[in-house]
Amino acid sequence: MRMSPRGAMVLLLIAIGFVMPVAAAEMKPGAHAVASAHPLATEAGLEVLAAGGNAFDAAVAVSSTLAVVEPTGSGLGGGGFWLLHRASDGFETFVDGRETAPAAAHERMYQDASGTAIAKRSRDGALAAAIPGEPAALEHLAKRYGRLGLARALQPAIRAARDGFACDVKLAEAFAAQWGRLDAEARRVFAVDGRAPRAGEAIVQPDLARTLERIAADGAPGFYEGPTGAALVAGSVAGGGVWTLDDLRHYRVVERRPTVSWFHGLRIVSAPPPSAGGITLGTTLGQLEALGWKPDQGARSKHLLIEALRRAYRDRAAYLGDPDFVRIPTTALLSTSYARTLAAGIDPNRATPSASLPPADPSPQGPQTTHFSVLDAEGNRVAGTLSVNLPFGAGAMAPGTGVLLNDEMDDFAASTTASNAYGLIGSVPNRVQPNKRPLSSMSPTFVEGPRGLLVLGTPGGSRIITMVLIGLLAWDSGADALGVVSQPRFHHQYLPDVVMFEPGAIDPEEQKQLADMGHVLKPLKDTYGNLHAVSWDPAHGKVEAASDPRGVGAARVVPVR
Ligand code: GLY
Repeated sequence: MRMSPRGAMVLLLIAIGFVMPVAAAEMKPGAHAVASAHPLATEAGLEVLAAGGNAFDAAVAVSSTLAVVEPTGSGLGGGGFWLLHRASDGFETFVDGRETAPAAAHERMYQDASGTAIAKRSRDGALAAAIPGEPAALEHLAKRYGRLGLARALQPAIRAARDGFACDVKLAEAFAAQWGRLDAEARRVFAVDGRAPRAGEAIVQPDLARTLERIAADGAPGFYEGPTGAALVAGSVAGGGVWTLDDLRHYRVVERRPTVSWFHGLRIVSAPPPSAGGITLGTTLGQLEALGWKPDQGARSKHLLIEALRRAYRDRAAYLGDPDFVRIPTTALLSTSYARTLAAGIDPNRATPSASLPPADPSPQGPQTTHFSVLDAEGNRVAGTLSVNLPFGAGAMAPGTGVLLNDEMDDFAASTTASNAYGLIGSVPNRVQPNKRPLSSMSPTFVEGPRGLLVLGTPGGSRIITMVLIGLLAWDSGADALGVVSQPRFHHQYLPDVVMFEPGAIDPEEQKQLADMGHVLKPLKDTYGNLHAVSWDPAHGKVEAASDPRGVGAARVVPVR
C-alpha cells in the first residue's frame, strides 16, 4: 500500500505519542458511522446525516427514535448524557441531561417510619420519577451544536411513533416480563388485542407522536409547558407523584467538562459527575498502570483488575454524587499518587475482603438504559447514554402524552444502609435532596491513542463502567470494533463482595485459581449489556462500527465522497 505524505506524518506522530487530537483535527474520517440499540435508530441517524446534518443532529435523531422504538431503555420521560467532540476546534463537552429530583423530594420519601428503604416506592409508579431531562437536552444539542434544527432531526422519531414499527424479539420479551408492572395507560397504549405485543406486531404511538410534534414546533417548552406539561403533572399527581409545573419549567441542561484519564498512552475522555463513570474508570486504570498490569496473564490479570475495581467502586460510594450539591475531590481521585497508594494495598495473591477496606456506603443503579455512538465524515462525534432506569422506567405513563415516566429516583440512596436495584449501597453524597441529580453509572466514552479513536458505551446500571473498561482494554490489546463489543464480561463493584461473570467469561481453571485467592464467584445465567462502538483509524483511513451481538442493534458505516 502506498502512503501519502500526510499518512506518513500521522504514523510518525502516532509513533511518538498521544497524537489523536492533533491528527484528528487535520484529517477527516470520510465516512459516517452510527451504532445503536435499534436498526431504526441507526437509520434515523444516517438519514439526518445524509440530509446534511452533523453528528450532533444525528444524536438528536438517534436519541428521539430510541425513545420511540426502545421504550425499555430510554425516552422523553427520562434523561441522559451526551459526550461531544467538535472536529473544527477539538472542543469537548459533556451535555448533562440527567433527571433532577422534584422540589418536594426529601431524604425520607422512600423510607418507612423506621427509616428502612421501601424499594418499590423508588422503582414503581409516579413517585419514583424524577424530572425528565431528555427533551431539554435534545433542544440544547440541536440549537447549540446541530445544523438542521430540532424539527428536522425529530422527523424519523415522529414517523416511527405515528406510523408504527415492528416489535422486536427483545422488546417482546421485555413486554412479556414487565406487562404486569405497567400501569393502565401504558398497557392501553402498547396493547395489541388487549395483551402484550409479540415479536413482529406493529406498535403505534399516536400520543407520543403528538408530544414529539409539540417539541418539534415549540422546542423544550412544547414538553415542559403547555398541554404536555399540564398532562405530565396531572399524570404524576394522579399516580401518587409530587411533580409541579414549576419543576418542569425549571429543568435545565448543564454542560460539564468531561473527565480525562490516561492509560498505556491512551487518552480516555468520559463522563464526569453526576456520573461515576469517568472517575471510576480513571481510578481503576490508574491502579492498573501502577501495577504494570498486562491483559494476557489469565487469573492474575483478572485478580488485579477485580482488586482495582473493588477500590474504585468503594470510592464511588464514598465520594460521588451531584457535583452541584457535594464537593468531589476529582483531581485527587484521578491523581497518579492516589492510584499508586491504592495499588500498593493490593495483594497480588489474595483477594482483599471489601469489608476490610475503609467503610463506604455503596449506592444504587439499573440494568436497562441505552447507548449509541456516532462519528460523522468531518470527525464530529457523540457518545450518548440515555435512561429511564429500570425497563419501562416506573412503568407509569402520563395519560394522553405517550410518555413513560422514569424511575431514576432509585439511583439515589433511598437510605444510607439499603442497596438499590443494582445492589449498590447508598451513600451520603448521593442522598435524596430537592432538585438534585441522582448519581449515575452511565459512561459515554471516547478513547484516543496510537490506534486512533474509539467511541463506546453501554447500558447496564452499575456494570456499565466495567463493560466500558473491558471494551477499552480489548481495544488497547488490538481488538477491532466487533471485538470490543463482543468481549466476555465480568464485574466487581466493592459490595456485594462477589465477582459476577457471563457464561464462559472466566474459564474453569481461572475460576479455581480466583477462588483459591479468596474471591467469591457468582456465575450468571445470562449475558448482559448492549455495547455500541465506532472506531476510526486515521493512519489507515479505516472507520468501523459495531453493535453488541447480545442485542438487536445495528451498526453501519457509510462512506462519503
Ligand atoms: N439508571 C442507570 C444509571 O444512571 O446508571
